[in-house]
Amino acid sequence: EKGGYPFYMLKEIDEQPAVMRRLVQTYFDENGQPQLDKDLLAKLNEADRLYILAAGTSYHAGLVAQPIFEKLAQIPTEVHLASEFGYNTPMLSEKPFFLFLSQSGETADSRQVLVKVNEWGYPSLTITNSQGSTLSREADYTLLLNAGPEIAVASTKAYTSQIALQAILAQALGQKRGVAAAESLPLKGQLGTIANTMQSIVDEKQEMDDLAKKHLATTRNAFYIGRGYDYAVSLEAALKLKEISYVQAEGFAGAELKHGTISLIEDGVPVLAIITDERVASHTRGNIQEVRARGAQVITIAMESVAEADDDIVFPDVEPLLSPLVSVVSTQLIAYYTSLNRGYDVDKPRNLAKAVTVE
Ligand code: M6R
Repeated sequence: EKGGYPFYMLKEIDEQPAVMRRLVQTYFDENGQPQLDKDLLAKLNEADRLYILAAGTSYHAGLVAQPIFEKLAQIPTEVHLASEFGYNTPMLSEKPFFLFLSQSGETADSRQVLVKVNEWGYPSLTITNSQGSTLSREADYTLLLNAGPEIAVASTKAYTSQIALQAILAQALGQKRGVAAAESLPLKGQLGTIANTMQSIVDEKQEMDDLAKKHLATTRNAFYIGRGYDYAVSLEAALKLKEISYVQAEGFAGAELKHGTISLIEDGVPVLAIITDERVASHTRGNIQEVRARGAQVITIAMESVAEADDDIVFPDVEPLLSPLVSVVSTQLIAYYTSLNRGYDVDKPRNLAKAVTVE
């Protein structure tokens, strides 16, 4: 069933290029135009604000999608942890639309919000990998990830497919609204390019194993930094590492180093920097110098246009808004190998369940 893989997580990481291609086949027509439920788009078009609700990795996929919705569809977008939204509901706009992101479709923290949304009578969509799941049944609309079963507790292909499907939805909405950025973005082609780029990273997985062995074999903690689009990825990268390798990891915005975290940097601490966003790349480079000067072991993951000669992982340029789809794959593999090399059961980390059905 694992198709020759030692763990499902590695199989699921490797499946990501195919999952991207399947999404393209499912949600674009032959002219390269996104094809989505017309009622859904009409309802979304009436909304004045999009509220994305999710937990864990799905929440991180929402954070990546927030600027995508705002740029491609010009819809103000907020992303909330479902649990916190439940206790501390923000003031809502006049015409809110709720998007629930959930691989399993069974997450209780998300469901408690959907129950309220239904009581309030607001429209909702669930993006899920699980047809017929609770969140799918209880929302007005469903879009399926079609990513195939995700068995490993650590979510990988659900994250990337959630981002891609939200981008498709954002483009479809933006086109309906006549947003130039949505009309000019060749999203179908970009997702194909991204699938190829993901493939080149999974083909080079030995590099990530080597980096994990060199920098993460015995460390008790690690930091991920990024700015702009790379910040959201650094949060996901840190979650993946801590979840399966039990390394205490933190992802944070590069600028925040000098507001506190830099006091934790000492000799030998691994700092993983993600650099794809050219608006802020030079500032992240500055952070790298600051932590190196304090003895950190720096690992860099960079996109070609902002890469430097001694970067550890460099991947070809893709549309910057979508770069998290690619940069995250290296971090998934680094987390995988760190766990594997420490001898843990990668697919079943201690204390965790695949679907969290209690609040
Ligand atoms: O099924 P969901 O997407 O709603 O699950 C949400 C989180 O429980 C999940 O993403 C969790 O954080 C993962 N184990 C992280 O890898």
